[in-house]
Amino acid sequence: MVKKIHPKLEDPVESESWTEGIEQPLALMEQVDEDFASTAELANHSVISAKQFSRDQLIQLCRLAAKFETQQSFGQFPLTGKILISAFYEPSTRTRLSFESVWQRLGGDIITITDPATTGIAKGESLSDVAEMMNHYGDVVVLRDTNEQAIYEMLEVLRIPIINAGNGTDEHPTQALADMYAIFKWRPQLMQDDVSDDQKVMMGIVGNPGRMRTVRSLLLFLSRISQALNEVVIICNTTEPFIDGQLEELEAEGLKIRVTNELDSELPNLDIVYINAIAWVGNTYEEHGIEYKLSNDSPLKEGAIILHPLARGEELSTDLDDTQHNWYFAQARGAVFARMALMSSIVRF
Ligand code: CP
Repeated sequence: MVKKIHPKLEDPVESESWTEGIEQPLALMEQVDEDFASTAELANHSVISAKQFSRDQLIQLCRLAAKFETQQSFGQFPLTGKILISAFYEPSTRTRLSFESVWQRLGGDIITITDPATTGIAKGESLSDVAEMMNHYGDVVVLRDTNEQAIYEMLEVLRIPIINAGNGTDEHPTQALADMYAIFKWRPQLMQDDVSDDQKVMMGIVGNPGRMRTVRSLLLFLSRISQALNEVVIICNTTEPFIDGQLEELEAEGLKIRVTNELDSELPNLDIVYINAIAWVGNTYEEHGIEYKLSNDSPLKEGAIILHPLARGEELSTDLDDTQHNWYFAQARGAVFARMALMSSIVRF
């Protein structure tokens, strides 16, 4: 008798159909009319910060993402012949793979640097000179760099767009775009100009807005839909989690923000719970609020969704994976379509 090696080899899992879960993006598309005039303004522009996007651009990018998600043949291969320079100088699973997946799905080719020590930087070459070379070798750069300023230095010299895939503790705007795409798929009516009081939602962010680039960019996007949010509750173990001017800037956009160090007493009132516990700093990571943990025993509101930029640690128990609260995997999957929307808007021919 042949010994069984693994149950999945005997009984393989059926692969996901592309139509699985398309009801939500379809509902999103019905909520707003297609009008890509605002996203056309993104053509040939670099993306450094979530601040660069207007509310209309955010909404139309999500609508375009929904179109990519629901229409398999939509916009096929617009990037044929175009080259992405994928420069990731810091560990990444999702951002790098999803950007590279996006580019290939859109028909383009990719050249990659994963370690600056394999470039002239190891010989003392300046970032400016590296950027000047990139002008000739590719059509767009996607950069993840521990050095917050590197993207600004390269921007000075680049004549092709550069996309911020995470710059130190500063920002991660395309992650926040994926977060918003998940939120709008969950509740498409939050995209409306007028959201009635009974449709407004309470959002909790378990994390540190001063240290976590994902949270910083997300808050900037949330400030674009402040009309749809009752309150954003920051749950963290420090009383002053913001950098200079950050809170004031968000409040000036109409966002109502409260800071607390309590998690479980807030959970029964939260419609969206966003959680992250690490900030990548230099060549390692800082942990923030490791005492805050979500599990299937947490007092979550019925119908509440959990978002997490991932990678997760002990703050997010795997026993939530098979519950209705798990939107973090859908959030990561949707990042492909959100980035397709962004890249196809930036690279115009
Ligand atoms: N969300 C995110 O940035 O994940 P990676 O670090 O795996 O890219």
